[in-house]
Amino acid sequence: MSLFATKPLETIVAESKGEHSLKRTLTASQLVALGIGAIIGAGLFSLTGIAAAHHAGPAVTLSFVLAAFGCAFAGLCYSEFSTMIPIAGSAYTYSYATMGEFMAWIIGWDLVLEYAVGAATVAVSWSRYVVSLCHDFGIELPAEWVNSPFVQLPGGGSALINLPAIIVVAMMSTLLIVGIQESARVNTVIVFLKVTVVILFICFGWAYINKDNYVPYIPPNTGVSGQFGFSGVLRAAGVVFFAFIGFDAVSTAAQEAKNPQRDMPIGIIGSLVVCTILYVLFAHVLTGIVPYKLLDDAAPVAIAVDRTPYTWLKTAIKLAIIAGYTSVILVMLLGQSRVFYSMSRDGLLPKLFSDLHPKYRTPYKSNLLFMVFVALFAALAPIQIVGEMTSIGTLFAFVLVSAGILVMRKTHPNLPRPFKTPLVPLVPILGILANLALMFGLGWENWMRLFVWMALGFVVFFAYSRSHSNLGKVNAGLAASQGKPPAAH
Ligand code: ALA
Repeated sequence: MSLFATKPLETIVAESKGEHSLKRTLTASQLVALGIGAIIGAGLFSLTGIAAAHHAGPAVTLSFVLAAFGCAFAGLCYSEFSTMIPIAGSAYTYSYATMGEFMAWIIGWDLVLEYAVGAATVAVSWSRYVVSLCHDFGIELPAEWVNSPFVQLPGGGSALINLPAIIVVAMMSTLLIVGIQESARVNTVIVFLKVTVVILFICFGWAYINKDNYVPYIPPNTGVSGQFGFSGVLRAAGVVFFAFIGFDAVSTAAQEAKNPQRDMPIGIIGSLVVCTILYVLFAHVLTGIVPYKLLDDAAPVAIAVDRTPYTWLKTAIKLAIIAGYTSVILVMLLGQSRVFYSMSRDGLLPKLFSDLHPKYRTPYKSNLLFMVFVALFAALAPIQIVGEMTSIGTLFAFVLVSAGILVMRKTHPNLPRPFKTPLVPLVPILGILANLALMFGLGWENWMRLFVWMALGFVVFFAYSRSHSNLGKVNAGLAASQGKPPAAH
């Protein structure tokens, strides 16, 4: 069978129905909350200060706006697809319908970088904040048990395992197994908490802004590209892009939305808009309170709060950060299991990834397997490197989804589109260009890592998926019954 055989839309939609399918229970507000749950996390709380100190100064606010534009172009494309193909699996499923099985495989495999590796990365940050919060309350957790074996401990020797990271991944996986409604409810509570604290920081901090800190708003370039000036603002946009990752996870839950045609665009664009506004205001206050050169710290908010009388906010913020990271992990793990659910339903992965729990109707075996994989990864891997792999993997998915809209408008011009991406072909083309530009900004080492991961994916595809694919089997069966060799599409 041709590698570029596409899956007919009618088949995709028909397969998503029936009792062996996921439950449709999510409302528009739960979808927006899922988006915000996945979005606000390490990107905002840790990277804003680093991006300001090294690349953009107070103009990190502009970097957030630039990154948001790249995401908005892709978000509009995701919205069109998610109303046309309201099925779990998101970018993977869209690619199957537009660019064929092989591209679909590539994107599905690539999404592991965004969701599973992303969840592991955030789990490690989660663990650091738990250690720090315990320290504030006078409890010292033993360093051997809260770091990966690659971390050298100050007293010599290396750590053993990152136990808190394992615990949070196990807790979130269990919640996902128990049910999508239960997961969505917990997520909504967490989102409420973290958004409240972000708003509190903006409101309380506003009065302590020193306007002198905004001069010059875009510090002059140092002569090195990416260090301040316009190139610095662009480079910072690449750094803070991480803060937007996750809005697309909403689309992986399309098969569990009550009214996907109406609510998917609300969930995707709504969460993106809310977060962009919060991010710009947050960065404005942060760089207004603290001179940007002093923000080179993984916990810049604490530095800002120290300059206000509201020291109690520091504990509240740490709690909100821990809660915030928890929901990022939850939604990333949700997205991962839903992408593999769809790939398994198509025969590209073993059936166990789409086996549903008889009572909870969740892909529990997949959740359990990813619990082990992500927990081990978070517990043992040198995580700094893999954090950037999350960004490059996500950007690659955004490029392909934007390209998919162009293909779909050509191949299926008359299909009903409850939500239409505006200004086609301009918006998808800008989506491709903006996200490619951000990918280039991540440097060749990350491109190499992406290629290695993809090469591994090709091995799995040719060794297993191609011969097990449902589409391939149907095609071969049809051809055999007609006494012909299988047709190339
Ligand atoms: N956007 C998510 C975060 O910043 C991945 O943690």
